[in-house]
Amino acid sequence: MLVCVFEWVGLAHEDVKSRGLSQVLVSSESEVQNDVFCNDLNLQSTPANLPPGIQKLDLSHNKLQNLTHETLAFHTTIHHLNLHSNKIQFIQPGLFKDMTNLKVLILSRNNLDVFALNKTKIGSLKAVESLDLSNNGLYTGMTDYFLGDSPAMTNLSLNGNSITKITKNAFCGSLALRKISLHNNVILEIEDGAFDLLDYLTELDLSKNSITCITDFNLSHLKWLNLSKNSLETFQTIDSEHLYELLYLDLSENKMPYFPVLPKRNKLEYLDVSRNHLRSVNNTGTVEELANFRGTILAHTPFRLITRYQDFSSLIYLDLSYNQIKSIPQTFICSMVMLEVLNVSRNCIESFFVNHEDILQNLKILDLSYNSLQNLSFGEKTLQSLKELFLQGNTLTTINPQTFQRLPGLRSLQLQQNNLKICIPQQIPVELPKKDHFYQDSPSCVFFYSIPALQFLYLSENNLRVLPANAFHNTPLKLLDLSLNPGLEIDPNSLSGLEHSLIHLLLKENNISQLNTDLSALSRLKYVDLSTNQLTTLPIWNKESSIESLNLQNNNLVTLEYNTVLVLERSLKTIYMGSNPLSCCSNIRFLHMVQRSAVVVPDIDTVTCVYVQDSEPVNIEKVTQDMCHTLDSRVITIIVTVVIALVLIVVLGLLSKLCHPRRRKHNSSFSA
Ligand SMILES: *[C@@H]1O[C@H](CO)[C@@H](O)[C@H](O)[C@H]1NC(C)=O
Ligand SMILES: *[C@@H]1O[C@H](CO)[C@@H](O)[C@H](O)[C@H]1NC(C)=O
Ligand SMILES: *[C@@H]1O[C@H](CO)[C@@H](O)[C@H](O)[C@H]1NC(C)=O
Ligand SMILES: *[C@@H]1O[C@H](CO)[C@@H](O)[C@H](O)[C@H]1NC(C)=O
Ligand SMILES: *[C@@H]1O[C@H](CO)[C@@H](O)[C@H](O)[C@H]1NC(C)=O
Repeated sequence: MLVCVFEWVGLAHEDVKSRGLSQVLVSSESEVQNDVFCNDLNLQSTPANLPPGIQKLDLSHNKLQNLTHETLAFHTTIHHLNLHSNKIQFIQPGLFKDMTNLKVLILSRNNLDVFALNKTKIGSLKAVESLDLSNNGLYTGMTDYFLGDSPAMTNLSLNGNSITKITKNAFCGSLALRKISLHNNVILEIEDGAFDLLDYLTELDLSKNSITCITDFNLSHLKWLNLSKNSLETFQTIDSEHLYELLYLDLSENKMPYFPVLPKRNKLEYLDVSRNHLRSVNNTGTVEELANFRGTILAHTPFRLITRYQDFSSLIYLDLSYNQIKSIPQTFICSMVMLEVLNVSRNCIESFFVNHEDILQNLKILDLSYNSLQNLSFGEKTLQSLKELFLQGNTLTTINPQTFQRLPGLRSLQLQQNNLKICIPQQIPVELPKKDHFYQDSPSCVFFYSIPALQFLYLSENNLRVLPANAFHNTPLKLLDLSLNPGLEIDPNSLSGLEHSLIHLLLKENNISQLNTDLSALSRLKYVDLSTNQLTTLPIWNKESSIESLNLQNNNLVTLEYNTVLVLERSLKTIYMGSNPLSCCSNIRFLHMVQRSAVVVPDIDTVTCVYVQDSEPVNIEKVTQDMCHTLDSRVITIIVTVVIALVLIVVLGLLSKLCHPRRRKHNSSFSA
């Protein structure tokens, strides 16, 4: 018996999931959607006894080979036919001619190359709007046998085939196309005019092909173009004053040495040129004089030859990461008034300046990570919308101390892998020097207090030596990462001001032997990482604690203070304790906590302890209190034995002393 699943929308659930045809009720109402699922059934042909009136038929993941009139043509009501992942190699010509409702036809993952080799056409696809021919081993010219007569087709997928060339006539029979996907082919060539007839084409995916250059881009209706993962060395738009509709352009992972020449008049919102070979943001390398350039910006730029950059006044997202760009001139970014995300991570940028408040005034995210920044300066009142700033991996040493205090919206600041110092707030000169260069020779420090919106601060790997008192006063930090600054001297009051905000504190690999900061003052603190230090005692926790996760891996802890464990036990959910020289018998409270599974110890396998000094470490789960008792009683026996022995010695000594005078007396009496 056939086990297709039927979904007659509008009927009760029992009827919906019928396992046999005999039970199927067919609704006579035409607006009811009748779906039949015959997927994954090892079928070799279409089930012969399907009921009439089917709208959606799923025959995917079967073993169908031949699609013929006998089995399918009769179902003229179908509008969604899924034949994904079969072995179809033959389609009777004209089979779909009478399926006047068929709108979606999915033929992906079949052997349609075999069909195409016979040079027969499948015939008219009059009503089909969406055709999926992906992963069929089709190569150049073969699509002609499928697309000849498909006047309603708007979506076409040819992904994952072996097409090397888009011929001029490839889409002549499907002029209504709006979206064409050609991802993952081996396209080397696009013949002149191949897409020119497609007046409605708005989306074109040519990613993962072998295209080397586009010199005359002229598809002004296109809204979305993906050329990622090709071998592009140039992308040039034809010289035209035409307004282009292009919104998304992905040119990532190509080989372009120059910035693409984009439409002069554009609406571009998203541009990805990451992972190319850009050495600069010039698109030709030529330099032009520009006398009537925006005055405000020129005021800060000495008069000289200025490269003319294109206008990107709609751009919201620009990714230039993974190139070899040395600088981002203000003249390049000044037209980008809408820009929200600028990513120049992993380039060779040495200086980055924003001097005028009109530049990048909408920027929310700026990623300058992993460059070679020596100079970074944001003028007063610039970048007022910035929320996230990525500066990690720059070995930055000198910076205006107030740089971050001037950014009122800054929420997240990544400064790891630099060479910065933290300024002592008390030492603020009353009158702050205005000029940035004032700081450039002296070893600079940066203020981290009074940064009004900063919540996430990453300062690991900065060779930090001192964490001064009140360093983060008036900065509402939720996360503070100070890891990998070995030898960091932490002032007991360094975290004051964070009592009601700090949730995450990371202090790993800092070679700390004693943490003299009272962490219990931080009332919201939940996650603390103190792993790989030299701690011999637990940090002080004497009040209520809200700690949920504590990492103490790889320290020098022998005994965990009973009172601290008691406090922690109330809130703790996870503790890491591996690689510590714990003593088994002096940590009974902790042992209890672990053995009762009150907390999760993810590294339990490496948590060991020793019974007596120099004895074999035992896994903490194997420790029993009896062992400690046994030990205790043994010790008591020894002590008792020793005491008795001592008492005996003393008694004997006394006795002998008592005896002597007697003897003497006896002697004296004897001599007397
Ligand atoms: C499909 O048709 C071919 C010939 O066109 C035939 O050799 C083959 O047996 C048929 N396969 C099935 C499953 O009917
Ligand atoms: C065609 O593609 C667009 C965009 O992916 C999608 O929204 C639409 O549903 C598709 N149309 C059909 C008929 O599959
Ligand atoms: C372009 O295609 C690549 C590869 O398929 C994909 O990763 C990327 O997300 C696409 N770009 C856009 C903007 O959708
Ligand atoms: C910038 O690009 C790099 C590399 O592609 C990526 O890892 C990083 O997440 C991006 N930054 C942002 C803020 O999206
Ligand atoms: C770590 O601290 C110890 C003393 O507690 C010191 O001998 C050692 O040099 C320090 N190591 C580093 C890398 O600072």
